[in-house]
Amino acid sequence: MSFEHKIEVKNLSTWFGKKKILKNISCYFEDNSVTAIMGPSGCGKSTFLRSLNRLNDTIGSFRMEGEILVEGEDIYSIDADVYELRKKVGMIFQRPNPFPMSVRENITYGPRLHGKKDDDELERLVEDSLKRAALWDEVKDSLDEPAPNLSGGQQQRLCIARALSIDPPVLLMDEPVSALDPLSAGKIEELIMKLKEEITVILVTHNVQQAFRVSDQAAFLYLGELVEFDKTRRIAEAPRDERTEAFITGRIG
Ligand SMILES: Nc1ncnc2c1ncn2[C@@H]1O[C@H](COP(=O)(O)OP(=O)(O)OP(=O)(O)O)[C@@H](O)[C@H]1O
Ligand SMILES: [Mg+2]
Repeated sequence: MSFEHKIEVKNLSTWFGKKKILKNISCYFEDNSVTAIMGPSGCGKSTFLRSLNRLNDTIGSFRMEGEILVEGEDIYSIDADVYELRKKVGMIFQRPNPFPMSVRENITYGPRLHGKKDDDELERLVEDSLKRAALWDEVKDSLDEPAPNLSGGQQQRLCIARALSIDPPVLLMDEPVSALDPLSAGKIEELIMKLKEEITVILVTHNVQQAFRVSDQAAFLYLGELVEFDKTRRIAEAPRDERTEAFITGRIG
C-alpha cells in the first residue's frame, strides 16, 4: 500500500461518555523527525497519543469518530489488527514499566512473541536495541540482572530499547522524562534527538523548553482543540494564536 505519511489523522473527535475530549483534529507527522505535542494539563494530550495506538479501546466509555491512518491503513477499521498495529507503533509512558524479568528478557520478550526463535539473532537484537537506546555500555555485564534493579533513568532507556526491539517505524512517548532526575532526563532528550534518524517520534510534554529543545514540529492542544501545528522554530519565534503565545510564555498552563 502506498502512503504519503507514516501516520496521519483525519477529523478525529473523541469522547469519554458524553464529554467531548478531542475536537475534530486533522494533522500528519513528518517522517524521521520529532513532533512535540504540548498543552496544559487536561487538554487531551494523552488521550490523543493513546488514540494513535488504540490504547483507549479498553476504556468502556471511549468513543471516537474520524480516521487514523498508519502506513496508509485505517487503524480503527473493522478488519484492522491491533497486534500488527503495536508492531508499527511503540509506546513509552511517564513511569518506566520494565517487566519483572531480566534485562535481556525484557528485550527478547517482544521479538519472541512475534515469532523470532534463533538464539544468535535474539542475542544480536539485545545488543542492537540496547545500543540504540544508549544503554548497552551500562548493562552489558549485567544482562541477567532483574530489570527493576536498574536506576529510573536506566529503566526508561530499557523500555525504549524494548520498544525498539521490534523495529516500529513510529514511537509515541508520553512525558517520558518527567518522572526522572535532570541528568537522566537530559540523556533521554539526547536519545530522542538521535532516534529520529531512524523513526518518527511523537512526544507529549507540557514542558515548553523541552519541546523547543528536541522537536522539529510542535503542536499546541488547548481544551481538545489543535490550535497550532507548525515547525517548532516558527512557533517559538512567532506563535500565530494568542493562546499558544500565552502558553509558551507561561501565562497559561
Ligand atoms: N479514562 C478516562 N475516563 C474519563 N475521562 C477521562 C479518562 N482519561 C482522561 N479523561 C479526561 O479527558 C480529558 C483529557 O485528559 P488527558 O489525560 O488526555 O489530558 P492531558 O493533556 O494528557 O493532561 P496531563 O498533562 O495532566 O497528563 C480530561 O478532562 C480527563 O479528565
Ligand atoms: Mg497526560
